[in-house]
Parts: sequence; structure tokens; C-alpha cells
Amino acid sequence: MKYSRIIGTGRCLPDKVVTNADLEKIVDTTDEWIRSRTGIERRHMAAEGETTCDLAEGAVREAMAAAEIGPDDVDMIVIGSTTPDQVFPNMGCLLQARLGIHGPAAFSLEAACSGFIFALSVADKYVRCGDVKTAVVVGAETLTRIVDWNDRGTCVLFGDGAGAVVIRADDEPGILSTHIHADGAYKDLLYFPSGVSKGFDQLKAGADAVQMRGNEVFKVAVNTLGQIVDETLEANSLGKEDIDWLIPHQANIRMIQATAKKLGMPMERVVLTVQDHGNTSAASVPMALDVAVRDGRIQRGDRLLLEAFGGGFTWGSALVRY
Ligand code: UT7
Repeated sequence: MKYSRIIGTGRCLPDKVVTNADLEKIVDTTDEWIRSRTGIERRHMAAEGETTCDLAEGAVREAMAAAEIGPDDVDMIVIGSTTPDQVFPNMGCLLQARLGIHGPAAFSLEAACSGFIFALSVADKYVRCGDVKTAVVVGAETLTRIVDWNDRGTCVLFGDGAGAVVIRADDEPGILSTHIHADGAYKDLLYFPSGVSKGFDQLKAGADAVQMRGNEVFKVAVNTLGQIVDETLEANSLGKEDIDWLIPHQANIRMIQATAKKLGMPMERVVLTVQDHGNTSAASVPMALDVAVRDGRIQRGDRLLLEAFGGGFTWGSALVRY
């Protein structure tokens, strides 16, 4: 039986930091409201001309350096992103061109905030079946580009960034299981209205923005994340006490606390970046993982539960022996 193991992690954040106090000058909000309702204190924002692929490249270079691999070792690139640089070529191909990787499959997939978990699940399957030895998996976004900066209900929430992992085939686990789900019945609770084959004129005019019925999203998310925790533990015949670290999607501290409570985990065992990064959509889980790997909290052999929830709705988890 083959498994995939995470052999390197990396992240890249834009230099520009926007604090809650900065936002108080733009919309009718307060630092107190943002902190108490979301846990966010600051977020990074891409500079003019800085793209999702720029951030993805930074994260991948770090992850490849940590994994001690070169371009010729990469057999597959999978990127979760809803804010790609171009309609095509896909961001995997754009990354290949920058990294000097020629030939292996490279593609991006859209699953909103669950994009990294979906990408990890796909890459893990390819490694497990033996077709791929080494894969680069990325979550990268520039959500601040598609929010309405007059809408206090959404603009205070999002930030930009990218996180990446390198996974490699191994006889020992590794990624123990991944679980991905979607339910389009919730498509109207969190969405971006226009695309290429619909509303292209609005898109070109920059007239559209992320739409969210936050309160309704919140309730479904908390419930669904609780269920996926159960599903993941059951699939591995493990109990709550077997998880060393929870690495959740960083959308809202209150959502994270609810999931930790469900797991009976003290918050000291939960990796939190929401205060510094805001909600970076598909980038949030791999960036949080990288933070805790690099600061030494996560050690080899630890059991990690990664989970995410996003527009679609989409949701997913991965249980990892690091
Ligand atoms: O990442 C993918 C999934 N996304 C999420 O998981 C987001 C889930 N939702 C949330 O995190 C929360 O619902 C929000 C943080 C978006 C909103 O928090 P809430 O506690 O659900 O607030 P609410 O939407 O029920 O609004 C409460 C009040 C409203 O005022 P009234 O109607 O009670 O007078 C809002 O207008 O808070 C007001 N409000 C704000 N006030 C100050 C909304 N946004 C702001 C703001 N500053 N930025």
C-alpha cells in the first residue's frame, strides 16, 4: 500500500498589511466589531500588479526548498484557486513556466475556500495509485481583488496569500484519508456573480463583487464542519483524543472555536492565523500548516486534522500523520 507524505511546506504573503484601523477609515466599521465577530486583526493585500501566481510561486519555491527537491522531481502540480491570473493557461502551467518544469500534468481547480483540500485530495489519489511520485499542491488567492470595498459585511473579512506543500510517495502514512463534499443547493449564499460565459461585461467593468449571506453561511458551516470531523475520525477508527493538531480554514474565530469544542480540543492545539491573515480562502489551511511547521509546534509523527468550508458549498478534510 502506498501513501503520500508531506515532505515540505511553504507560504507567501504580500508585503502590504491592512489593519482594522485602516478599514475604519474606508467603511462604517470598528476594530472592536471586526475582532469580536471574526477574530481578524489584520490581513495582507496584494500590491497593484502582484498576482495570485506571484504568491503561489513564492509558496511553492519555499515548499520545494524545504522538501529539497528540484524542478525535475515534480510529477504533478495541482492548485486550488478561485482568483487565477488568467482564464487560461491554467495557473499550474503558468507556475511550470516560472519554475522550469516541463511535461507533467499541471492544473487548477475551483472549490472556493476548500480549494486546497480538494487539490490535496486529488494529488493524494494519484500518488496512492502509483501514477505520481512527487506532487506540488497549492492554495493561492487574491480575494481582495473581488470584494466590494463599500460593503462592510464582506470587505473586512478577506486577505491574500498562498500556501503550498510537496507530497511524495512513501510506504508509511502520510496522508491517512481525505474527504471532499459539495452541495450546490447552497449556491446563492456565497458567490461571485459573473464569469466568462455569464455576465462577462460586468466582469470587464469590475462591477461585480463577492456576495455573502454571512449569518446563514456561518450556521451551515459550523454544522457541516462538525459532521466532517466525525466522518474523518470514523473512517480512520480514531477518537477525538487521537488528534494532535487541528488546522482549520481561517474564516472566523467563532467557527474555529465551535469545531475545536466539538473535538474536545483546547485552543492551544488549534493552529490560528485568522488574526494575522484574515480569510484567505484556499490559501488559509496550507499557510496555517506552514506557520506551525516552521515555528516548531508541529512535529514529525503528529496527527493533524485539516478542514475547510467554502462557497458552493464545498467542504472537506484531510487526516495527516505528519
Ligand atoms: O470562508 C468561507 C465561508 N465564509 C464564512 O465562513 C463566513 C461566515 N460568516 C461569518 O463569519 C459571519 O456571519 C460574519 C463575520 C460575516 C458576520 O458576523 P455575524 O455575527 O453573523 O453578523 P451579522 O451578519 O448577523 O450582522 C450583525 C450586525 C448587522 O447590523 P444590524 O442589522 O444588527 O444592525 C450588520 O449590519 O453587524 C453589522 N455588521 C457590521 N458592523 C460593523 C456587518 N458587518 C459589519 C462590520 N462592522 N464590518
